Amino acid sequence: MGADSATHPRAKGKSPALHIAMASSEISPFAKTGGLGDVLGSLPQALERLGVKISLIMPAYRSVLKGNFPTEDTGIRFSVPVSNKMEKGSVLKGKVGRSIPVYFIRAAKYYDRENLYYTSEGDYPDNAERFVFFSRAVLEVLRSDPPDILHAHDWQTALSIVFLKAQPEQYPELANTKAFFTVHNLGYQGVFWNLDWHLLNLDWRFFSSQYLEFFNKINFLKGGAVFADRVTTVSPTYAEEMTTAEYGFGLEGVFREKAKDLIGILNGVDYQVWNPESDSNIAHTYSVDDLAGKTVCKAELQKAFGLQENPSVPLIGMVTRLTSQKGCDLVAMAMNALMERDIQFVLLGDGEKYYTELFEGMTKKYPGKISVQMAFDELKVHKIIAGADFILVPSRYEPCGLTQMYGLRYGTVPVVRITGGLKDTIEEFNPEAGRGNGFLFSSSEPTDLMAVIDRALECYQRKDLWTTLIKNGMKENFSWEKSARLYKEMYQKLAQAADK
Ligand code: ADP
Ligand code: GLC
Repeated sequence: MGADSATHPRAKGKSPALHIAMASSEISPFAKTGGLGDVLGSLPQALERLGVKISLIMPAYRSVLKGNFPTEDTGIRFSVPVSNKMEKGSVLKGKVGRSIPVYFIRAAKYYDRENLYYTSEGDYPDNAERFVFFSRAVLEVLRSDPPDILHAHDWQTALSIVFLKAQPEQYPELANTKAFFTVHNLGYQGVFWNLDWHLLNLDWRFFSSQYLEFFNKINFLKGGAVFADRVTTVSPTYAEEMTTAEYGFGLEGVFREKAKDLIGILNGVDYQVWNPESDSNIAHTYSVDDLAGKTVCKAELQKAFGLQENPSVPLIGMVTRLTSQKGCDLVAMAMNALMERDIQFVLLGDGEKYYTELFEGMTKKYPGKISVQMAFDELKVHKIIAGADFILVPSRYEPCGLTQMYGLRYGTVPVVRITGGLKDTIEEFNPEAGRGNGFLFSSSEPTDLMAVIDRALECYQRKDLWTTLIKNGMKENFSWEKSARLYKEMYQKLAQAADK
């Protein structure tokens, strides 16, 4: 598949803009449960600024239908095979950036639901079917305007690559479309029991360890990784970690085989959204040259979380999905020791009931010192990122992580575990040299976490050092531009490659 480079239209002369179609389950502001939504909300626009033609495809979730986003009906109606039935859908169209079309796949029975993936009862039982349907639908949208590259993100869209590559006879219009896959988190692979295989309408030979089979189950993410022409992840360190037993979640062998082509491109920050100089969600704006507003933000945060309004007590903030990935258990284990220090701790969390109850219990034990709010609330995230002194990210693993980069821009010092993208963005502060932007620890032991927190608190007391440290962070630049250029280069090479 793919044109020979010598005869490829891009090989000489003026070529049309590269056309990339991105498929994702989350795109901010339409739907988001974590960083995937942020990335898809900002990377496409950074690419558009570099002259890449982009189109986006996502499900028409209830948040899209009810969210007052201007959309129009494209008139496209389709049906795709799911098991032995033909399931129907239609396509709405919206717009982001200058002129990026966003195609929303509408199928009420799959996506017009309260949440994206689960309720308090657990995962939706038909998640396999929902994302089989979505992946087939993506290819239907592409038929009428075939892109150079289909760029799929994470397990929910991985099957669009599998269907494209394993069943080319079903998609003749897409014969020259290459497949690019980005892994955002190996902890979520879309693994389903083998009795769901009929949903995929794929030959049984693909249910083998070379392809989608994984411990006798079906693994969507593995399929995407195996069939894609290029695989990337979201930080250079995570690209290395994915090939190890410690971080590979059972797929390390697959990524080891791909290691020489497996590239980690660091996520960026959308500084239009995350900028203390212009952020309308915070109590007072501020900048690296005038930090006075940050004190106002701290007071507002303390008030919002019912803590004493005290400018001098160190305030540690944490904003996270409540899962073991994020080191929630580690924080819980260290909490008694942490509460012996003269600090305040605020947590905004959303997720597992076990952690919700654990942290709510701690609030009762240490009233006035720790305050937690259990919600998915983007406004409050801004308030914590601006008002806290430290942002704690003690993740067991972290493919990239965005909150530490948000913290940097707001002069809120990251305290992070050395892993994945945290390692690639945070450098330990060296008081003698006045260099570095945060504090790091390596093991997942409470004693190590306390040691780094004590180091951070000591620095907080030395106002001259402290100011140097927060200004170092605020001056960092993790904008998308550099990373978008790397994606563009990869797209260009892939589009021109004779084959893989
Ligand atoms: P992950 O995608 O693994 O959750 P990231 O650091 O990449 O981690 O991105 C997390 C994103 O989700 C950030 O935009 C963060 O602000 C947001 N977020 C996390 N927890 C919450 C919450 N409780 N309410 C609102 N937004 C949240
Ligand atoms: C995932 C990862 C996170 C990353 C985000 C966006 O959810 O857990 O580290 O920043 O995807 O790529």
